[in-house]
Amino acid sequence: MSVFRTYPMRRIRKEEIFLKKILSPSILAADFSILGKQITEADEAGAEYIHIDVMDGVFVPSISFGMPVISTIRKVTDRFFDVHLMIVEPERYIEEFAKCGADGITFHLEATEDVDSVIDKIHCAGCRAGLSIKPETPVEAVRPYLAKLDMLLIMTVEPGFGGQKYIPASTKRIGEARRMAEEMGLSTNIQVDGGITTDNVSVVLDAGANVIVAGSSVFRGSIGENIRRYLEIFSEKSVGKN
Ligand code: DX5
Ligand code: ZN
Repeated sequence: MSVFRTYPMRRIRKEEIFLKKILSPSILAADFSILGKQITEADEAGAEYIHIDVMDGVFVPSISFGMPVISTIRKVTDRFFDVHLMIVEPERYIEEFAKCGADGITFHLEATEDVDSVIDKIHCAGCRAGLSIKPETPVEAVRPYLAKLDMLLIMTVEPGFGGQKYIPASTKRIGEARRMAEEMGLSTNIQVDGGITTDNVSVVLDAGANVIVAGSSVFRGSIGENIRRYLEIFSEKSVGKN
């Protein structure tokens, strides 16, 4: 008799999945003249990630910033740098983003011909890999890659600009993504980005998201107070409810 036995893939039951709720303030909404100071403020208030939007003027109409800014702000915080690439052919720059201080790199499914090899490149560079989809892309399109991903980003606005309104149809898409992950036995982080406020964050958390990007709603007004309000809401939500 063979010494090898095969076991069915172990599925994770819903109640076993514990996904930490993480706040990722998007510095796109920060005051760039005092960027370091504002990042320090976000860090000290308890934001675990710093969300860094890189835009190339091609994949999205705007141009934001790139490696020199990231390596400069790397000096002011040890927090996780959650780099969101809104650029075409992200494969060209993965190593450089890793070298300038990215901890996680998220790219767009719509921006490359070879999603698998971009994920591999990100992992080879020592970073966590995230894949993002725009509001019109079917959630089903991520299925072939989900098992390899550390994070899935469901855009809740059209990428390109901060300060837009949350697209209500996103709630259903978040739920769809969470169910897909659960059915595959995965506890993938699901991130949402765009139009999130302390008024609608409960809705996206309940739908299954656990990594929350927030730009305007963190950097407008008191950064410390805004972050504390988000963290309060996170802790009010029951553990493992995702
Ligand atoms: C949009 C960016 C977002 C943006 C979010 O393309 O990916 O990260 O900064 O900003 P708010 O939270 O203001 O919608
Ligand atoms: Zn973003």
